[in-house]
Amino acid sequence: MALIDVSEYENVNISSIDSQHLRIIKIINTLHDVMGFEADNTIKVLLKQYSKVLQKSFETEEKYMKQVNVVNYISHKLEHDRYLKKIADYTEKVDSGSAVVDEGFVKSLRNWFINHQEFKDKKIGKVLYSKGIR
Ligand SMILES: [Fe+2]
Ligand SMILES: [Fe+2]
Repeated sequence: MALIDVSEYENVNISSIDSQHLRIIKIINTLHDVMGFEADNTIKVLLKQYSKVLQKSFETEEKYMKQVNVVNYISHKLEHDRYLKKIADYTEKVDSGSAVVDEGFVKSLRNWFINHQEFKDKKIGKVLYSKGIR
């Protein structure tokens, strides 16, 4: 069973943000499916993809937030920046063999995503939608 049920994903109603969120979910689900089965190299490649997709998604949201002057831009961006750093640090540890992608780690990815989506992204989605952005 997928770690994150895509059918339960609640859209923010901004198409580029939603499609990037779905890519994030897909990588989290894939990591969950293959951890412990696939070679370390596959896991490392997936982690790198995860960083790239996150970065792209954050850039999109930040561009829109600046465009419409969203009030909580700074705190939202800070949350993005801190998370990218956290993932980069973990990736480095996995690369050097001092950390592994396990159940706990993959669940932490899911939790961050769901939390961030609920308390940050849905809010900007509403603001953007009200300004006519789709
Ligand atoms: Fe997001
Ligand atoms: Fe965000």
